[in-house]
Amino acid sequence: MEENQVADCGVSRRSFLTTSGKLLAGAAIASSVLAAKADKAHAYPVNNKEHYDYVPLDPAKVGQIAYENYAKRWCASSVIAGLVSELAVKAGGSWKTFPIDAMRWAHGGFAGWGALCGTLTGAGTIIGFCTPDTDIAEAMCNDLAFFYSYTDLPAYTPAKNLLADINHKTISSTPICHISVGRWMRAEGAEFLSKERAERCARVAADIAIETVAMLNAWKKDGKYTPKHQPLFNVLANGITSQNNCMDCHGQHVPAAEATYPTIKTTEAAKCSPTPKDGKE
Ligand code: HEC
Repeated sequence: MEENQVADCGVSRRSFLTTSGKLLAGAAIASSVLAAKADKAHAYPVNNKEHYDYVPLDPAKVGQIAYENYAKRWCASSVIAGLVSELAVKAGGSWKTFPIDAMRWAHGGFAGWGALCGTLTGAGTIIGFCTPDTDIAEAMCNDLAFFYSYTDLPAYTPAKNLLADINHKTISSTPICHISVGRWMRAEGAEFLSKERAERCARVAADIAIETVAMLNAWKKDGKYTPKHQPLFNVLANGITSQNNCMDCHGQHVPAAEATYPTIKTTEAAKCSPTPKDGKE
């Protein structure tokens, strides 16, 4: 059994992502899950139109502002600063008094605990304020986590390096701060409390701000958002809230999550990744 699990988890990330989508398409999802989501769909958390209207922004401008803010605000509030300072000028309303530093605690993956990368907390906060439909916000956040996890980052190259010169990009495979930054530190040979690492995170803040603007701009065209990835992908594919980097922590012995729950009926996709017959390159 354990051998099978190792084989299952050994498939490449690309084959996992392409084949799991197909598995999921066939997965029977209990209606209770969808019903719970639908109830929340139009919760209208804030009066978006009047107070927090979104107008299309220039991604490059927002990215640069996020990058420039990092040294004084760190990751979460830098992403927020990028979006909010432009929205304050272009959309006005309550953006003009938005408390940019209210989410500053999210730096270092929640006050230095290495959990969720603060750039994503910052981006998710603004997405939540802009979109009146909470399902759209969730779909965007899910897509953003995919982008963060499977893109070579940092991709942003500033016109002028503000903190240090750096050479490496890495794929984190997870939105977890500790693994993401640790993987980059190992590639770069840099310590955490270094200007190089700060430069890296400043650029990641720009990347996430830019991607967020791209999603919000696309949504603003007609009020619709087409998700790039299956919502709740990881829960359905893995049978547990998760990323897809099981072996980063479990090594060769990835426990299989319980395949059937009374509330969520999953298929074979409940294993950590496709079976070898499904997982061809
Ligand atoms: C960031 C590290 C990390 C990652 C990544 C991770 N896990 Fe875990 N997981 C843990 C830890 C730590 C525990 C608790 C294990 C313990 O205390 O024995 C755990 C527990 C579990 C459990 C419950 C314990 C059990 O034996 O049934 C399951 C199931 C599980 N993980 C599956 C997965 C799967 C599947 C993946 C990949 C989709 C994954 N994990 C990715 C760290 C991780």
